Amino acid sequence: MADDQLTGEVTWQSPSNIALVKYWGKHGRQLPGNPSISFTLDHAHTKTTIRYKKINEHSDKAVVNFRSEGAPNPAFSDRITTFLDSIRDHYPLSSQLELEIDSENSFPHSSGIASSASSMSALALCLLTIEKNIEQKDKIDMQRASLIARLGSGSASRSVYGPLAIWGKTGVAENSSDTYAIPYGTKIKPIFLNFRDDILIISKKKKTVSSTAGHTLMDSNPYKATRYDQAHTHMRDITAAMKNGDLEKFGEIVEREALTLHALMMASSPPYMLMEPDTITAIREIQSFRISNHVPVYFTLDAGPNIHLLYPDKYSTQVQNLKKDLRSLCEDETIIDDIVGQGPKQLI
Ligand code: DP6
Repeated sequence: MADDQLTGEVTWQSPSNIALVKYWGKHGRQLPGNPSISFTLDHAHTKTTIRYKKINEHSDKAVVNFRSEGAPNPAFSDRITTFLDSIRDHYPLSSQLELEIDSENSFPHSSGIASSASSMSALALCLLTIEKNIEQKDKIDMQRASLIARLGSGSASRSVYGPLAIWGKTGVAENSSDTYAIPYGTKIKPIFLNFRDDILIISKKKKTVSSTAGHTLMDSNPYKATRYDQAHTHMRDITAAMKNGDLEKFGEIVEREALTLHALMMASSPPYMLMEPDTITAIREIQSFRISNHVPVYFTLDAGPNIHLLYPDKYSTQVQNLKKDLRSLCEDETIIDDIVGQGPKQLI
């Protein structure tokens, strides 16, 4: 094998995503308790560049040098080394690589936006492109990219595709699987492909309970079985609503999902609460604006206090008035505007 195949550089830009039906609870090796569906975002993304070298001998561990936003990040270097070690069965090159990784997010580090979905999907795509270059394959297998991304962070499996993605076995999508996500979006009304997602940063503080710890608490949650059933019903109903162009039904499910996620946290042992008082004030303002102005604008939440304001692009002008009022509830008046996107891009 020529030397020029053994070293090289790859860059992928991969987006974040926002779940409409939430993944909450997992088992085994990063397998979801229920299916989930998300909008892939556009502006919020991670750009990852990897300079690689393949070494002949198999070593115990991959050698990783990780820089975030240009600064060395030893904690992340260790995390990626451990991750590579853990995926040897899916990615045999793991033990023969030296990697210099540079990663940067389009959104500020302390904005409260989770970066695991965009960063783990970008990493998975880079790893498979390295393998493609070294083994001289024609193209990478996106299904495998989604699977490897999932092993890094469950929601990252969905960031591999736009404009929507489904992860987890569900009756609504034939090829769906617990081990990787599939793209979604061809059968739905165009209005859902032109959605905006403005992220209201209610608090920039780091979460007090990580998603991983939250997922674990679902194991002993007394509502676990009911929740998993509800998620299946929501998957059926939300995809039907998007096929029929039923915005009201769509919004009703999206908001119930967000509140259920937080209700599950409050019902776990020990219980915890991630909403802030201003989260609730903002939710009330959104709901009353919707009713008074007949504008289909809805909210969803991640496992944190920040609000995602979801609405069709054609209502943007009307929603400006609502955003003007909501801005004062946001830390440093920060709102990050985003739209539904088409998925990751290979830059190099
Ligand atoms: C509330 O994917 O961050 O955003 O698999 O432990 O990395 P890990 O968890 P993560 O959980 C995301 C949970 C959620 C809902 C969702 O994105 O579906």
